[in-house]
Amino acid sequence: MPHSLTGKIALITGAAGAIGLASAKLLAARGALIAATDIAGADVGPLRAAIPDEGRLLVLEADVTDEAAFSAVVAATVETFGTIDIFFNNAGIEGPVAPIPDFQTDSFRKVVDVNVTGIFLGLKLVIPVMAKAGRGSIINSSSVAGMTGAAGLCAYVASKHAVLGLTQAAAVEWGAKGIRANCTNPGPIDSRMMTSIEQGASPGAAAAVHEGFAATIPMKRYGTPDEVAGVVAFLASEDAAYVNGAAYTVDGGMTAA
Ligand SMILES: NC(=O)c1ccc[n+]([C@@H]2O[C@H](COP(=O)([O-])OP(=O)(O)OC[C@H]3O[C@@H](n4cnc5c(N)ncnc54)[C@H](O)[C@@H]3O)[C@@H](O)[C@H]2O)c1
Repeated sequence: MPHSLTGKIALITGAAGAIGLASAKLLAARGALIAATDIAGADVGPLRAAIPDEGRLLVLEADVTDEAAFSAVVAATVETFGTIDIFFNNAGIEGPVAPIPDFQTDSFRKVVDVNVTGIFLGLKLVIPVMAKAGRGSIINSSSVAGMTGAAGLCAYVASKHAVLGLTQAAAVEWGAKGIRANCTNPGPIDSRMMTSIEQGASPGAAAAVHEGFAATIPMKRYGTPDEVAGVVAFLASEDAAYVNGAAYTVDGGMTAA
């Protein structure tokens, strides 16, 4: 039996997305109370349907690049639930697919802003809450693209390497205060994000790109959002009490090949 998360308070960004939603569901099923946040206009219907008990779910809106708005989300979570034990710092975007010489500088800046500055702001705002309590588990969403290169995705690759760096920086800086910081490094997951990358790589031929990607993975398939959520729940729990500064691949063996 995995460690229960009964009574733990979890803040999840990008909670309306595939991996955020799956993680919110699993953490809630293991007993956590969920503060779920996403950008204005995101579809939080499935989240509300999955966790219908209003006392156990707080839905908030913020752009993670907006420090004041993100700060208000952290403050509302603490005001409602008392603290933050688990922080899934997960919101991210893939950006366009283009070779480096053709990659628009504005697009590069946008991806870095959401995926790096957003993750930094999450750490900056949540660490003081956890430090006050003397405990906490942070899980940042990196990627296999945070460990290796990927053609056409320079901004995403750079940003996810930075997420790994921020994870290690936080782990080293805050481990002594009882705060663990780790990251998940998923490979291709069946999701909107991968369909967008497949379309960008070969417009109109996403299915062929999917097959090609899957063929390079030792397990010969994409992962599922639930399979990432399982690792998030493990890292959040006392089962991972001595895991700090780690990068957990969830990639069917992709980076081992
Ligand atoms: N899907 C994959 O194959 C895959 C693989 C490796 C890593 N990841 C990473 O996992 C995380 C979740 O991915 P996903 O597949 O669930 O993607 P998704 O697009 O389904 O979810 C991402 C969520 O982040 C939100 N978001 C985007 N920009 C935001 C902003 N500025 N402020 C607040 N929220 C914002 C979106 O609205 C969305 O709900 C991302 O960081 C992604 O890079 C995904």
